[in-house]
Amino acid sequence: MSMSQSYTALRPEFKEALLEAASQFETPFYAYDWPTIQERLERLQKAFPQTEIFYAIKANPRLGLLKRFLERGVFVEAVSLGEVLRAYQAGFRRNEVLLNGPVKTPAMLEALNRIGLPMLGLDSLADLERASRLLPRARVLLRVNPDLPIVTHDHLATGRGESKFGILPEEVGPALELARRSRLEVLGLHIHLGSALEHPEDYQAGYRVMDGLYRTHGPFEVMNLGGGFGLGLDLGALGAQAAALAHKHGAELWIEPGRYLVAEAGVLVTRCWGTKRTRRNYLLIDAGMSQLIRPMLYGAIHPVEPLYHNPRQATYDLAGPACESGDVLARDITLPEPREGDLLAILQAGAYAGSMSSNYLDTPRPLELLWTGQGWEVIRRRQSWEALLEDEL
Ligand SMILES: Cc1ncc(COP(=O)(O)O)c(C=O)c1O
Repeated sequence: MSMSQSYTALRPEFKEALLEAASQFETPFYAYDWPTIQERLERLQKAFPQTEIFYAIKANPRLGLLKRFLERGVFVEAVSLGEVLRAYQAGFRRNEVLLNGPVKTPAMLEALNRIGLPMLGLDSLADLERASRLLPRARVLLRVNPDLPIVTHDHLATGRGESKFGILPEEVGPALELARRSRLEVLGLHIHLGSALEHPEDYQAGYRVMDGLYRTHGPFEVMNLGGGFGLGLDLGALGAQAAALAHKHGAELWIEPGRYLVAEAGVLVTRCWGTKRTRRNYLLIDAGMSQLIRPMLYGAIHPVEPLYHNPRQATYDLAGPACESGDVLARDITLPEPREGDLLAILQAGAYAGSMSSNYLDTPRPLELLWTGQGWEVIRRRQSWEALLEDEL
């Protein structure tokens, strides 16, 4: 396979297990390698010692993963009422769940009050004012928009001044005054710069903003430096800088990784159903934008590994089954020429693939499997045809 991007190839044991799974289950399906997730978690824990890790549920919300994270002392970050319900269902307690997100309606806050109030990340003065009115005893963090020129896809940059997230640095003072006049318990400040960040300089710039804010407005119990770690980012140096910063201000360090933990552990398995030539050379596969929207949404490049052999090679665009010309999962990839039914693994699909899947075109959500190291566990059944229709009157 030719690909400009560097990536980690599938572990041979996992690759063999994928072939076995494909002999039992219909494609497309997602498959996750738990030993790889564990290895990523250990790497993160080593880089960020004495840090509270809040796994971002949105990256991959399967209960089968959340329960395993809980067993390993990882907490969770949610951004919707549904994700909080999911976290409680997995067994997390109130003080192990942090709810972020730019819009929290009164109905949502009232529901949280009934089911158990998690910690809240407040994102605007309106959010702060509403929380102080409806949930006066909440434990909260204030999200800061550090107003930095973050380098990533426009849709993934949350720490730029023009993004919809957070309170600008100059508004932190008035926001804290408002919070302190209420009975809210302010735990600290939070930044999350964006997703798929590959430049440590972006984090260092964010850390400098937090340093200034903690000097001016601290002390606080907690410093939340967010997630967004790109798969190739060197976390060693970054973790030490983050820890030193939190320590300097006497705060406990929190981070919120999602993709870093699960992306590389997951694949989307699809079959090849033919080739076709228009003015480009297409390979027709049974997975597309309904199962993996990232190429279309962010121009994301997902490496592809063939699970078959052929010494003859050709270069293809991978065309999905949707009636949408943008439904192409990869472009210009060189692969062994496939026979009908040959299998491909689309890599780095452990994050924001299953969680962003849709029922567009009445496509059922695929099966999700977890390789435990010993065998396969079904962690989500393929959605039934009946389920596609059940909410309609
Ligand atoms: C507030 C917040 N924290 C953490 C994350 C996790 O980001 P990533 O999966 O890139 O680590 C996100 C993702 O969008 C987020 O919005």
